[in-house]
Amino acid sequence: MNPLKHVAIIMDGNGRWGIKYKKSRNQGHKAGLKTVEKIIKATIENKINYLTLFAFSTENWKRPKNEIRFLFNLLDNFLDKKIKEFNRNNIKLKIIGNINTLNTTLKKKLNKSEQITKKNSKLQINLALNYGSKFELIDSFKKLIKKNKKINITNIENYLYTAKIPDPDILIRTGNTKRLSNFMLWQLAYTEIYFEKKLWPDFNEKDFVKIINKFKKTKRNFGNI
Ligand code: IPE
Ligand code: IPE
Ligand code: MG
Repeated sequence: MNPLKHVAIIMDGNGRWGIKYKKSRNQGHKAGLKTVEKIIKATIENKINYLTLFAFSTENWKRPKNEIRFLFNLLDNFLDKKIKEFNRNNIKLKIIGNINTLNTTLKKKLNKSEQITKKNSKLQINLALNYGSKFELIDSFKKLIKKNKKINITNIENYLYTAKIPDPDILIRTGNTKRLSNFMLWQLAYTEIYFEKKLWPDFNEKDFVKIINKFKKTKRNFGNI
């Protein structure tokens, strides 16, 4: 059976769900947040140490202003509501992505949330926010050049947002779309990928466990035979 440390998820399909059931994309995002809570719980129950959630990409700024505002408000309220609970449950929150360009109040709240939970050790949630893999890689290369360090695998990885975090064992993308959308291009080199037909708000613990069980039985070669 394969050991399982890290699950990464591209939480896709909120907008379509919202339109289908509530005539509003934003209501889909709200419903998607309930799935986030369910999957965090399932991650702990399955003794997985790292959960990475793709919440907002560097390309998502192309969306209408009203949707962007709604998403960031949801995040703001989520942090207010959840940080204490995360702390009680020994959950550490880490933001991966370029948060420098976000508004100052939110930036402060994100930093504070990381600070409060940084010693926790049961589960680490990496929230990918204003995250783009190409930007992350270029940023790492630039830092290495500036520090006059060699371009090699170890050094590149040390300057990614995910430094010291093991690569995802599993990537799940919900929403019936088969692409990576600029997500963890480096880190997913040997990840087992599961494309799920369900839209994110419809995804549940059972679907999650089914994928985990499939993963455990998969033969991972890493180039070997
Ligand atoms: C994913 O759901 C969530 C974010 C990108 C924030 P979408 O909003 O992309 O949902 P669809 O793909 O349009 O249905
Ligand atoms: C990827 O979904 C980003 C997140 C889930 C946050 P998108 O819905 O933005 O991806 P594309 O644009 O359809 O590839
Ligand atoms: Mg989408």
